[in-house]
Amino acid sequence: MTPVDGWPAALEAALATCRHFRDCIVLAETDSTQTLAHGRSDEPGLLVTAGRQLRGRGRLGRAWADTHDEGIAASFVVADAPTERLAALSAVACAAALEPVIGRDVGIKWPNDIVVDRRKLAGILIERGGAAKPTAIVGIGINVRQRAFAPELAGRATSLAMLGGAADRLDVLVGLLRSLDRTLDATEDQLREEYARRDALRGTVATFGSAQGDVTGEVLRVDPWSGIAVRTAHGERWLPPATSAVKSWTG
Ligand code: BTN
Repeated sequence: MTPVDGWPAALEAALATCRHFRDCIVLAETDSTQTLAHGRSDEPGLLVTAGRQLRGRGRLGRAWADTHDEGIAASFVVADAPTERLAALSAVACAAALEPVIGRDVGIKWPNDIVVDRRKLAGILIERGGAAKPTAIVGIGINVRQRAFAPELAGRATSLAMLGGAADRLDVLVGLLRSLDRTLDATEDQLREEYARRDALRGTVATFGSAQGDVTGEVLRVDPWSGIAVRTAHGERWLPPATSAVKSWTG
């Protein structure tokens, strides 16, 4: 396992080959890489990471568990873009970075939970940054070396190690950086295709909370741009992606 004081040199070498990232901040420990990135979010191109993140923030006001020295916590400051594009590209980039580590397909559960066997392997939080000029901050948490989870997460979470991918956190982080850098150049058509082939909800039964109330049915298609198609008992419905969240997922 590469100690955290060895991370800056390896990350700087990787940054030298990136088009969209040029700087990194690596801390031994921090409350939240996301909070730290906000203070440096006026220009795109920064990666903030830490050997241990104590009080990570998740979507919808949830917490992201202490990574100890087992998980990756990374926040990337990127150029501002529409929400749909940021959601699709960050999920596709993260899934694509993890697939070679475990040697199998990785799914995306709308909007951007990264899942394998219906358990969460990574989570993504996208926030707006930049006081002077708008940017976005893509925060990614990946479970890497965990062999077990706290009772409240057990059964819902998984890690690369639990999936047979015994990887060094630094190698996974470098892979993620490269993947995100590449994916930032993807066209909308490419992202649509890459998202669709990893869509973990398609073909399963889910309940969505939406502006029109709860909608339950078989998920026919998830498209970050145009919406979610659900076959309900009363016919097919299209849900707007921005305001529809998965409430339960029975598979
Ligand atoms: C979620 O699934 O709810 C999103 C989790 C996002 C966690 C990452 S870890 C790196 C970055 N720093 C944070 O405080 N949160 C994000």
